[in-house]
Amino acid sequence: MTNLTLKPYITEEQLQAKVKELGAALSKKFKGEKIVAVCVLKGSFMFYSDLIRNIENDVTCEFFGVSSYHGGTTSSGEVKVTLDLASPVENCHVVLVEDIVDTGLTMNYLKNSILSRKPKSLTTVALLEKPEALKVKCELDYVGFKIKNEFVVGYGLDYQGYYRNLKYIAQVQNFQ
Ligand code: IMP
Repeated sequence: MTNLTLKPYITEEQLQAKVKELGAALSKKFKGEKIVAVCVLKGSFMFYSDLIRNIENDVTCEFFGVSSYHGGTTSSGEVKVTLDLASPVENCHVVLVEDIVDTGLTMNYLKNSILSRKPKSLTTVALLEKPEALKVKCELDYVGFKIKNEFVVGYGLDYQGYYRNLKYIAQVQNFQ
């Protein structure tokens, strides 16, 4: 794993600027309202923690654990819930924070699951989207960066569990 070649793709500065921009947009949209911010584990934990620090509203934190890649580089298309929300979100403004939308299957699953709990509103935020990889229609309210259909790691995103701790996003060039 240590001899994989990483090509920098989105810098730490670009990520931090985008997080500020998204935080400001959400603060404006929900001015004076409370928000339940849902972190989709594991991949969005770093984006989520930066994003909520840029939201000026009263925020409570919820965590939704799902897995669909099972460690590889192609989506299995099957969403497995590893951790459900700890509290009801009925009548709340929910902001769902995802790391990346690839086929769109995970985001659609999450949206349906949250909508079934009858929130006051549901707003979706994805740091990255791969429009060419979408297999199902998946509408998003906020997208940080649209990227090509390439596998990326860092800033929470992993390859076989590794690279989540990078401060930037990189492409892995030589898979084994
Ligand atoms: P989807 O259901 O195919 O949209 O996949 C969404 C999930 O797959 C994300 O939450 C990520 O965990 C993972 N994923 C998709 N693309 C990548 C990638 O390029 N790098 C790392 N993980 C990815």
